[in-house]
This record gives sequence, C-alpha cells and structure tokens, in this order.
Amino acid sequence: MNATLVTGAASGIGRATGIALARAGRPVILWDLNEDGLNATAEACRTFGIDVSTATLDVTNESARRAALDAAQEYHAGINGLVHAAGVSGPQPISAFTQLEWSAVLNVNLTTAAALTHELHAPLIEAGDGAVVYLSSIEGFFGHQWLPAYCASKAGLLGLARASAHELGQFGVRVNCVCPGAVQTPMLEPFLDLGNNRATIIGRTPLGRLAQPDDIADAIVFLLSPAARFVNGTSLVVDGGLTAISGI
Ligand SMILES: NC(=O)c1ccc[n+]([C@@H]2O[C@H](COP(=O)([O-])OP(=O)(O)OC[C@H]3O[C@@H](n4cnc5c(N)ncnc54)[C@H](O)[C@@H]3O)[C@@H](O)[C@H]2O)c1
Repeated sequence: MNATLVTGAASGIGRATGIALARAGRPVILWDLNEDGLNATAEACRTFGIDVSTATLDVTNESARRAALDAAQEYHAGINGLVHAAGVSGPQPISAFTQLEWSAVLNVNLTTAAALTHELHAPLIEAGDGAVVYLSSIEGFFGHQWLPAYCASKAGLLGLARASAHELGQFGVRVNCVCPGAVQTPMLEPFLDLGNNRATIIGRTPLGRLAQPDDIADAIVFLLSPAARFVNGTSLVVDGGLTAISGI
C-alpha cells in the first residue's frame, strides 16, 4: 500500500499526524532531525501494524532528502501523500532583522515545502490519489510583531498551495493547507508560558481550550483522504473559532 511522508514527525503535530495516519491503516514515512523523538513516533505507529520507515535528516538538505526519498521508495510500494509539518518559529522582530535568521525560517517552513512537492510530484501523480498538506497557520492571515519571517512563511504556503493545486490538480494531485490556531506543542510552550498568554488565548477561543496535536492531525488525515476528494488549493482553519470572532 502507498505511504505518506510526514516531516517533523518527532514532535507535536507531525507526530500526531503520523500516528493518526497509522491508526487509519496508512503506511508512513517519518522524517525529522530528532532521532529519539522519531523512534518514539515510529514505535507508536508500528502498534497499528502498518509499514513504517524513518530517516533522521535536516529537511533543508537537498542531498539528504534525495537519499532518504530513494530509501523510502525502495521500502514502500509507492508514495501518495506528503505532510510538511517540520517547522521553526524563529522569533525576531523586523527591527532586529538579520538575513541569516530570516532565511533559516523561510528555508525550513516554505522553501522546503516547495522542494519536497517538486521532488515528490512524479510518485504522487503515479499514485492516482496523491495529496499534499502544508502546515500553514492562522499567522498566515494575521501578523505578529515577533514573527515576521514566520508569518511570511505561513502566508507563502497559502500561495504555494494554490499554485501547486493548479498545476498538479490537472494530474489528480490535490494540494491544501491546514491553518491551526494555538496548539499545545513544544514549539508553542515558551510563548504560552509568557505572562497571561495561555489564559488570554483560551479566553478568546469560543471552544474554550487550546488545540491538542490530535485536533490538527485529524483535519490533516481528512484532507489526505478520499472524503476530501474535491478539496484542492484551499486552507482549513482549525482554531476552535479563535479567528472567527472579533475579540471585542
Ligand atoms: N503549535 C502551534 O500552535 C502551531 C500553530 C500553527 C502552525 N503550526 C505549525 O505546525 C508545524 C508543526 O509545529 P509543532 O507545533 O508540532 O512544533 P514542534 O516543535 O513540536 O515540531 C516541529 C518538528 O519539526 C522538526 N524540525 C524542525 N526543523 C527541522 C529540520 N530542518 N529538519 C527536520 N526536522 C525539523 C523538529 O525537530 C520538530 O520535531 C510547524 O510548521 C508549525 O509552524 C504550529
């Protein structure tokens, strides 16, 4: 059976997505920098009896991606899904801009999403039911003073999804974004622990809680599944209603 590649699979949303796919009976290819975290995700996925392969790599490294992709294609029957969940936030206001840090955030979050879509487009087309999901964010629609590079990368993913959906949709491959609100993961914890941020976000969310990684993973599994067969080039906001209300 064809497999789905999940980047950022050692932690947070990527880990939950790998496990949710495995629970749905779908083989997974798990990539991350963090080998221990990756092994823990792989072990959890294997309990569902599906094929799992892993690679410890920096997803921005083109030759490492190529080698890992070759190994995955040898191990699995084919590849019909891509979830780019590897991401970094890189807080840095525009007043403290450095090209190096800006490029580091854009490279992981956005450029690698485009590179992976390019590198996987042939197997995704061949699969006949290929689908791609990028982890954008509600920060793709709004701004935050500490996160210009992050916001730009997440807005960029919305454009990338639309353009790729146009090109690859003609060959049966769907490309969409999921836009989470505040999800309780290691990436967000330092921000939640600052001042009243945790209580403020919960208070502004109609559903009255933070998202858990599973909440986002289930939306991603939907976007990859036949149930979303006519959903292409769009984004699904999963934020408990945080951005649906004015906040007044
Ligand atoms: N947590 C949130 O509130 C939230 C909200 C909206 C969007 N997102 C997005 O969801 C995605 C997952 O975030 P998360 O909250 O699960 O974060 P996380 O920090 O828990 O997980 C991110 C994973 O990406 C991996 N990673 C980072 N850079 C890498 C690289 N160069 N090569 C390989 N692996 C790399 C990390 O090792 C980590 O395992 C990110 O794109 C993030 O921007 C998160």
